[in-house]
Amino acid sequence: MLIPNRNYSDLKDSYLFYNISKRIEAYLLKNPGKKLYRMGIGDVTLPLCEAVIKELHAAVEDQAEKKTFHGYMPECGAPFLRGAVAGYYRNRGIELSEDEVFVSSGASDELGDLQDLFDKSCSAMIPEPAYPAYVDANIMAGRRIIHLESGRFDNFLPSPTELLHKLKREGLPVPDLIYICSPNNPTGAVYDRAGLKEWVELANKYGSVILFDAAYEAFIEDDELPHSIFEIEGARTCAIEICSLSKTAGFTGTRLGYTIIPKTLERGGMNINDMWVRNRTTKTNGVSYIIQRGGAAVFTPEGQRQIKKNISLYKENARLLSETAEKLGLWHCGGKNAPYVWMECPNGMKSWDFFDLLLNEVQVIGTPGAGFGACGEGYFRFSAFASPEDTKEAAERLLKLR
Ligand SMILES: Cc1ncc(COP(=O)(O)O)c(C=O)c1O
Repeated sequence: MLIPNRNYSDLKDSYLFYNISKRIEAYLLKNPGKKLYRMGIGDVTLPLCEAVIKELHAAVEDQAEKKTFHGYMPECGAPFLRGAVAGYYRNRGIELSEDEVFVSSGASDELGDLQDLFDKSCSAMIPEPAYPAYVDANIMAGRRIIHLESGRFDNFLPSPTELLHKLKREGLPVPDLIYICSPNNPTGAVYDRAGLKEWVELANKYGSVILFDAAYEAFIEDDELPHSIFEIEGARTCAIEICSLSKTAGFTGTRLGYTIIPKTLERGGMNINDMWVRNRTTKTNGVSYIIQRGGAAVFTPEGQRQIKKNISLYKENARLLSETAEKLGLWHCGGKNAPYVWMECPNGMKSWDFFDLLLNEVQVIGTPGAGFGACGEGYFRFSAFASPEDTKEAAERLLKLR
């Protein structure tokens, strides 16, 4: 008899954003046509920039001619895009070879697929609150998860010292996989160099691998903060970096990302970069030529100028939302180097109750912190990806709660 992957029955019954959409659906059924101000889900609203659109069109034209037509693309990515990404890192002082860059269809896909590289017995440390896909992908894979709680006491930036204390208390070994998301979704908190260095030292000391999610690196504006874990000495022997063009350049629907796996990353006598080449050449036939051409345009000087303009519009929304939390007298973080503002719910409210209050009273949608793990309870996330008009209106409506 066929045995399904029973780990799926350990997943929570529904996904955070599915729950949100169900509540919105119910509200709109009772209040048809009511305008909602959606500061919840982290999807972008600005179109792809001109430089990308121009390249996409040109690539479509290539596919119409025998001479320029492309069939299957190299599984690990087109050399022109791998080179462009390596150049992007070089501009920040990080030397990568092109075969350390893997083109992907997005960070979510990659975060799930990378699970293949590690034995089922490997444990995973996931800081909380966290992007829900980390937990779900590890549950599906049947891994033991060690949740590392964070909070206002550590500015939502948990440290290896906190992890080691927890492991000692609970009699657990150091986890094999360590997830770090910086800038963080949902809290918008960003590790500084010293903070990341501690994680790199821990991983190298105990043989763990850091899965560093840099999906929001382009939102960092403080020069002192690291965009990449490879800015930290020692990371080349312990880290994989997962990146996305979704929020950086509006590719949520177009789908493109990239992953950095150093050639120097080895565990148990195996080279992780070689393993990933083997994985990609077996399990994918590469990302579409057209999309990769569009993606390469992001890394041109023109593309960089244009995406930065879009990012600064989102950052202006984030600034307004942070200012609103401030005026409401609510503790908050994020917003400055990230497109998310994380704030406490007023009057000790629970986060789903606050969600319902905002939906019913002021028609503003946010994301309840409890959806990102138990220690997100009592907090709320606002996304800066809505239009400036909607964000302004949402901010005014939130102020009515005073
Ligand atoms: C932290 C984080 N990682 C990864 C992703 C997924 O990005 P992609 O659209 O490239 O799959 C998201 C999307 O919201 C995210 O917030």
